[in-house]
Amino acid sequence: MSPITNLTGHLLQAHIFTARSLELAEILNQIVVAAKFVSHKTNRAGLTDILGDAGKTNVQQEEVQKLDEYAHDVFVRLLKQSPYVKAVGSEEEPEMIVFNEVYHDQAQYIVHLDPLDGSSNIDVNVSVGTNFVIFHKQSLGQKLLKSDYLQPGKNAVCAGYVVYGSSTMLVYSTGKGVHGFTLDPNIGEFLLSHENMTLPEKSEIYSLNESYQPKWDKNFADFVAKMKTNQDISGKPKTARYIGSLVADFHRNLLKGGIFLYPADKKHPNGKLRLLYEGIPLAFLIKAAGGYASDGKRDVLKIVPADLHQRIPFFVGNRPDVELVEQLLGNKH
Ligand code: AHG
Ligand code: MN
Ligand code: MN
Repeated sequence: MSPITNLTGHLLQAHIFTARSLELAEILNQIVVAAKFVSHKTNRAGLTDILGDAGKTNVQQEEVQKLDEYAHDVFVRLLKQSPYVKAVGSEEEPEMIVFNEVYHDQAQYIVHLDPLDGSSNIDVNVSVGTNFVIFHKQSLGQKLLKSDYLQPGKNAVCAGYVVYGSSTMLVYSTGKGVHGFTLDPNIGEFLLSHENMTLPEKSEIYSLNESYQPKWDKNFADFVAKMKTNQDISGKPKTARYIGSLVADFHRNLLKGGIFLYPADKKHPNGKLRLLYEGIPLAFLIKAAGGYASDGKRDVLKIVPADLHQRIPFFVGNRPDVELVEQLLGNKH
């Protein structure tokens, strides 16, 4: 029987019928529609005027690509249509985007987004992605407080990503397993294709931009050198795979086993990746798949964000590998 389970059907079956699961299913449905728009645009990028930069920089002082802007706009407009979403945090906006229409009066959810991850790969036809994480408001009443949108990842109710690759997949978790859906372009729906994705025990891959080696901490450089020999924790050399799109590197390692590393260095004292909409979604997912994510000192899910665009060093994948990095760097902070 060909796959026929879509995301909201899967969520509601798993959560039996509760009010919150219905609200979450509705929010996820908006994310699904936005992902279809971005997939459609990405798959024909060379034919439409969506390649290249948008001629401006974002709060990260990074050049915004047209597809960054398009993805941001599509996800925010679709999430705004949900009466359950109170606010959105996006890589492309300095501050929180708060929805104050009448129909948001009872809205209790916050969504943090990396609308388009891997921007440097857009123009060269390499996989890119979207990251998201959903929190439930902690404070009562309609006002959005900082404590509502700067919550640690352990409070998240749902997290996921979309990878726009040779096929477009949406992978999500509410903490009960990790489940992957593949977009069938003929039907225009994401259908369950990878139920209960679990991280393989064997950690055979390391993903790291080695061009920064001259800026690394010496202990870290030694650790990386060992991964290429039989002294690696797995007892044999790991193979190197690095796409430069976090979501695509994470997705491959989730399927094959391995560790992704983006350490701090002299140029990026807090690392490059953002805690709220890159680190937390993937830390939530890897935990549900049997792995672990750290900033080199502690569990990413326990970090209380200080601000919307806080950067962290990020290590994610098989727990023994990530804990080894913590032993190595833990006393460095
Ligand atoms: P974004 O496009 O959302 O800014 O994210 C880019 C990130 C991440 O996708 C990737 O892992 C990392 O940048 C690559 O950084 P380097 O080019 O420094 O390796
Ligand atoms: Mn990103
Ligand atoms: Mn991005």
